[in-house]
Amino acid sequence: MNKQDQLIIFDTTLRDGEQSPGATLNFPEKLEIARQLARLGVDIIEAGFAIASPGDFDAVSRIAQEVGQFDNAPVIASLARTNKADIDRAWGAVQHARRPRIHTFLATSDIHLQYKLKISRSDCLEQAGDMVQYARSLCSDIEFSPEDAGRSDPAFLYEVLKVAVEAGATTLNIPDTVGYVTPTEYYNLIKGIIDNVPSIRERGVILSTHCHNDLGLATANTLAGVLAGARQVEVTVNGIGERAGNTSLEEVVMAMHTRKQFYAPVYTRVDTTQLVRTSRMVSSLTSIAVQPNKAIVGANAFAHEAGIHQDGMLKNPLTYEIMRPESVGWNSTNLVLGKHSGRAALNDRLKQLGYELTRDELDKVFARFKDLCDKKKVVADADLEALLTDQFESLDNDLFKVEEIHVTSGTGNTPIASVRLTDSDGEIRADAALGNGPVNAICNCINRLTGVDAKLVEFQVHAVTEGIDAIANVTIRVELSGADGKKYIYSGRSADTDTLVASGKAYLAAVNKGLSRANKNITPDRQKIGSV
Ligand code: KIV
Ligand code: ZN
Repeated sequence: MNKQDQLIIFDTTLRDGEQSPGATLNFPEKLEIARQLARLGVDIIEAGFAIASPGDFDAVSRIAQEVGQFDNAPVIASLARTNKADIDRAWGAVQHARRPRIHTFLATSDIHLQYKLKISRSDCLEQAGDMVQYARSLCSDIEFSPEDAGRSDPAFLYEVLKVAVEAGATTLNIPDTVGYVTPTEYYNLIKGIIDNVPSIRERGVILSTHCHNDLGLATANTLAGVLAGARQVEVTVNGIGERAGNTSLEEVVMAMHTRKQFYAPVYTRVDTTQLVRTSRMVSSLTSIAVQPNKAIVGANAFAHEAGIHQDGMLKNPLTYEIMRPESVGWNSTNLVLGKHSGRAALNDRLKQLGYELTRDELDKVFARFKDLCDKKKVVADADLEALLTDQFESLDNDLFKVEEIHVTSGTGNTPIASVRLTDSDGEIRADAALGNGPVNAICNCINRLTGVDAKLVEFQVHAVTEGIDAIANVTIRVELSGADGKKYIYSGRSADTDTLVASGKAYLAAVNKGLSRANKNITPDRQKIGSV
């Protein structure tokens, strides 16, 4: 197959995806996802926005040092605005990778130039040229994105792109930042760029798609871009991202795979059997549930309910199935573990699920696994994922830890919770509080013990497996005042066979995040791209 026809899969789950409201990932979670993305076979991992916070810088540089050093390592990229400080920071983080990339962007639509950046078109041209050139003086792989390209004047867009190529950009990414355009328009946009910026072809510059899903058209637009000549697609696992999200990786990959003849000679080198595993990992670590009817990775994606369909499926799966579930990783051995399973069996299963744990991490999860075996006869993959998510989450919980939670509730009396916590000095704090429900009573009690004014704004609980002994996975979002007095949202989650205990732990996890960011004076949930 011709290298020119390989569709480069640029995964931005850890950057644009992480911009989903409340989806902040800590470093071990980002590293697990990056390792899994490498296993999936993506070509480029945008590991973050290095200048956003010290935590983001560390995450990008450690992913570059580890995943960026694998054999056949993916390119590791960091986002940067078109200024020297951002570009230096991005380079500082990605330079450790075998194949580093700086991805720099500047808006080109009149709306953004006039209202957001308050610069003229000629300032924009100058800034794009100077900063791409500067980035190129540091790194040989430079991607330039004209933000809001979808709403930019095409003639001006061509000028900016010409300048960027002249200054050394090796990839030009064309974002439909606000998810506004339709497939035909996006096709024409990419085609127009190829026809009007001849240096793209002359210098072998790759054109890339970057679509948002505000009108539900992200995948369709991306595929239209590929038909028009784009050879890189920017995507996220499960389509997570700002607002309605980004183009979903699994949808694009499976469209190319299932309709090979239609897209030939373009192909991807993704291992499609890793798709479901990757989706589940991202969903459990970000606490963003996958809708059941989501294409490819939703729980119902291969479920046939109607009698006529079931009859057809029994006679020949081709009647109603365009892809085999195994080809995307469904039905891959769902081994169950139990109380006789040892450390090695647990480690082995976790590896198959895509998690690589240190000795210490494995010891901790093994202790919790044994605990769980006392309460549940069989421990399924979903239980293990829930335990791990809980363990990663508790890394942020260095301020307060739950020792005990008791709740009394029922008909005819006001729910009351008593909670015991240990604080960061190892002192025990205990109190009791009433509430209008048992969860509210726990939250009120935690507020009193930690001295915060947190408010529960979202509460989700789901049983990770079937059966009366299932683990409850609780995800909570709280509103909390930051160091600057403004209100911010923090998420927390926890898993336990007792739903109320999981609720209390999840609430405390969110409060701990808020408190630790306020203590370190970090802008909560970092600088978001929208505010640049
Ligand atoms: O949507 C967008 O415009 C972006 C750019 C920063 C590439 O995410
Ligand atoms: Zn985007």
